[in-house]
Amino acid sequence: MKISKRLERINNMIINKYDHIWDCCCDHGQLGIKLLTKKIASKIHFVDIVSPLMTELETKLQRYFSVNPTCKNWQVYCLDVAQLPLESTCKKSKQLVIIAGVGGDLLIELVNGIIKSNPEHNLEFLLCPVHHHYKVRKSLKALELGLIDEQIIRENNRFYEILHVSKTAIKAINPVGSIMWNFTKKDHKDYLLKTINHYQRMAQKTDQETLNILAQYQSLIDNDSPLYKSSSPVMGI
Ligand SMILES: C[S@@+](CC[C@H](N)C(=O)[O-])C[C@H]1O[C@@H](n2cnc3c(N)ncnc32)[C@H](O)[C@@H]1O
Repeated sequence: MKISKRLERINNMIINKYDHIWDCCCDHGQLGIKLLTKKIASKIHFVDIVSPLMTELETKLQRYFSVNPTCKNWQVYCLDVAQLPLESTCKKSKQLVIIAGVGGDLLIELVNGIIKSNPEHNLEFLLCPVHHHYKVRKSLKALELGLIDEQIIRENNRFYEILHVSKTAIKAINPVGSIMWNFTKKDHKDYLLKTINHYQRMAQKTDQETLNILAQYQSLIDNDSPLYKSSSPVMGI
């Protein structure tokens, strides 16, 4: 099954085995199906709020991944991701919650809700918001999550950040990104330029917060920046 470049990158970032993986806001379940085929977790949970989608997915999974019901390695749920039924799972089990393809504000709300309702669970999150990366990162930091990995992906001339975070990871989440940047790559330079241009436009409204965010992104292209010094300067800023 062919999946998008963005979902494929998320799939490739999952290298360790888990007891449970939750493909949240799963739509047609493409990523979860890929993970099911990869046999990377004891159970893959598919969650979306749209009922006809989940009925269709359940039928598809029964057809292609039908197993003995006593050891079924997948489950479909039609519900709000904020109500994820984690209480039915062991607190000590290794769990990965994936939320991709939704706006930053909704994503923050969902992560917040999941953590508040399940403070003792051993959770990792793999997150890929559409827009509002800075705000998402600040919120994850405020929730005391640490960074495991982060990557940039360009698809159809849109840029996405993928964040792998957990409560036990000790590396701080930088609001403008850290280990994801590789300025020898054209895509990364293009993304930084686009982001700076966006905040420059916003800063014309001269609010202090936007000016502060702009200054932080601009510091990434400082000649002294260890991230940037190995490549040539971005033109046109
Ligand atoms: C654009 S799709 C994302 C599909 C896939 N995760 C991806 O990244 O390509 C967004 C999905 O989020 C679902 N959704 C939005 N809010 C939700 C919520 N609160 N709980 C569960 N699903 C939600 C929608 O029904 C839709 O199927």
